[in-house]
Amino acid sequence: MSMFLVLLGPPGAGKGTQARLLAQELKLLHVASGDLFRDAFRAETPLGLKAQEYIGQGELVPDEVTISMVAERLARSDCAEGVMLDGFPRTVEQAEALGRILAQRGACVALVAYIRVRTETLLLRLGGRSTCMSCQAVYHVLYNPPRRPGWCDACGGQLYQRPDDMPSAHRKRIKVYLNQTAPLVEYYQERRILATVDGEQDIEVVQRQLLELVGRAMRTQ
Ligand code: AP5
Repeated sequence: MSMFLVLLGPPGAGKGTQARLLAQELKLLHVASGDLFRDAFRAETPLGLKAQEYIGQGELVPDEVTISMVAERLARSDCAEGVMLDGFPRTVEQAEALGRILAQRGACVALVAYIRVRTETLLLRLGGRSTCMSCQAVYHVLYNPPRRPGWCDACGGQLYQRPDDMPSAHRKRIKVYLNQTAPLVEYYQERRILATVDGEQDIEVVQRQLLELVGRAMRTQ
C-alpha cells in the first residue's frame, strides 16, 4: 500500500528537520520542493536559474513551474511506494494538482500534518539555521548544533547559510506564507485529513507526535 504524506507549515516550522527524521524512521522517500529548486540552481539548469529569481525575492515560484517539476519527480519509480512531501503543496492550485496526480495512480494524500509555530519563534529559528551543501540537512546554532561547527554530522559536507535566510527575507517569506499557503489549513481541514502538531516543542517531541499521527493515518487508510 502506498503512503503519501504532506508536511505543512510556515518557513522555519521544522518541516525539513522532521521530514528527514520521519522519512528515515518510516523508510519513506523525502521529496522537498525547496531542495529540488536548490539542486536545479546548483546544476545551473534553466528551471533552477528561473526559480532562483523568485526564491531570492522570498516569493513563491509560479505554480505551473513548481507543479510540473514535482509531477516529474513523483512520476519516477522510487516514488511508487509513497513519499513524504515537504514544502509542496503551497497554494490551493498546487493542492488540487497533487490530488489529480495521485488520483491518476489510484492514490491520495493520507495525512497532512500541519506544524504550527509562532512568528517570533520562526524568526529565531531561521536566523540561526545552517544547511548542508551536500545533503541539505539542517542545523541550528542553539537548538540543533552540529557536532563539528561548520560541518554536517550526517555526511561530512560543508554547512552554509541559505541566501533566503538573510534577516531581510524572513518576514517577507512569512508574509507570503500567510497570504498564499495558510489557506491550505482550511482546505485540508474540510477534507478531514489535516492534523495539527505544536511545533514549538523539542524536535524529538514533535517527531514522536508526528509518528503517532502517521501510525493512526496508516491504520485508517
Ligand atoms: P523551502 O526550502 O521549502 O523553505 P521553507 O518552506 O521556507 O521552509 P524552510 O526550509 O525555511 O523551513 P522548514 O520548515 O523546513 O524548517 P527547518 O526544518 O529548516 O522553500 C524555499 C523557497 O523555494 C520558497 O521560499 C519558495 O520561493 C520556493 N518554493 C519551495 N517550494 C515551493 C512551492 N511548492 N511553490 C512555490 N515556491 C516554492 O527548521 C528551521 C530551523 O529551526 C533549523 O535551524 C532547525 O534546526 C530548527 N528547528 C527545527 N525544528 C525545531 C524545534 N522543534 N525546536 C527548535 N529548533 C528547531
